[in-house]
Amino acid sequence: MSEVLRVEGLEAGYGKFRVLFGVDLVVNSGEIVVLLGPNGAGKSTLLNSVVGMADVYSGRITLMGTNVVGKPPHEIMKMGVAYVMQSPNNFGTPNIFGELTVYENLVAASTGVPKAEVFKRMEDVYAVFPKLRELRDRKAKFLSGGERQMLAIGMGLMKSPRLLMLDEPTAGLAPKLVSDFFHTIRDIRDKFGISILLVEQNAKKALEIGDRAYVLVTGRIKYSGSAKSLDEEKLAALFLGG
Ligand SMILES: Nc1ncnc2c1ncn2[C@@H]1O[C@H](COP(=O)(O)OP(=O)(O)OP(=O)(O)O)[C@@H](O)[C@H]1O
Ligand SMILES: [Mg+2]
Repeated sequence: MSEVLRVEGLEAGYGKFRVLFGVDLVVNSGEIVVLLGPNGAGKSTLLNSVVGMADVYSGRITLMGTNVVGKPPHEIMKMGVAYVMQSPNNFGTPNIFGELTVYENLVAASTGVPKAEVFKRMEDVYAVFPKLRELRDRKAKFLSGGERQMLAIGMGLMKSPRLLMLDEPTAGLAPKLVSDFFHTIRDIRDKFGISILLVEQNAKKALEIGDRAYVLVTGRIKYSGSAKSLDEEKLAALFLGG
């Protein structure tokens, strides 16, 4: 099994504000890895660190075997990683362009992709999110929260990433849509053959589709192991510092 992402001894934060303390995490090829933890634990900061959007003080981050610490975000994004940020996020960065249609957003996300390939990939995206095909001519600003998440993920997939990082993709979704969404995440892994690093508040559902899991509490990894062997009781104890 080849490694897509390896984080070792990561100390990171923002300026003088340290958030992560000696974090180790691995994502193997084809895996869904779930990252859980209380609010403010540093989950988003860990993802931000991978793409160069947080300050890394020490430690190593390797993507497909290449050390990326110190590289600018746009360079890292070209290395086969797609990042759908938590929405809203502290950077004020929207994941989609509101004034563009669904179709135009997918095209906009495809810079550097050969033209013939763009339409092929778009079909792959529509295959996992049939709803996006129906909405192709709608401006993104008129989409529902769930539709926006689909579009943001679809835009990430247009780049044919090796690693897709999703930060709380089900936040704000209607409860009856949440189960379907988790199935789609697994579908994406299977159809695209990629690895997924998934940050979720919806622990139970995420652990059902995950292969392995990590629990981050106040910047430190408190659990790493199979997703199946982590139940809600264990999780609650970890969150409370047990
Ligand atoms: N861009 C930023 N600049 C400065 N501090 C930040 C920034 N983003 C997050 N922080 C701080 O870093 C700490 C960890 O935040 P982070 O967003 O990584 O946590 P999280 O685990 O993703 O939480 P949540 O579950 O609420 O999304 C918090 O104290 C937060 O206030
Ligand atoms: Mg977060």
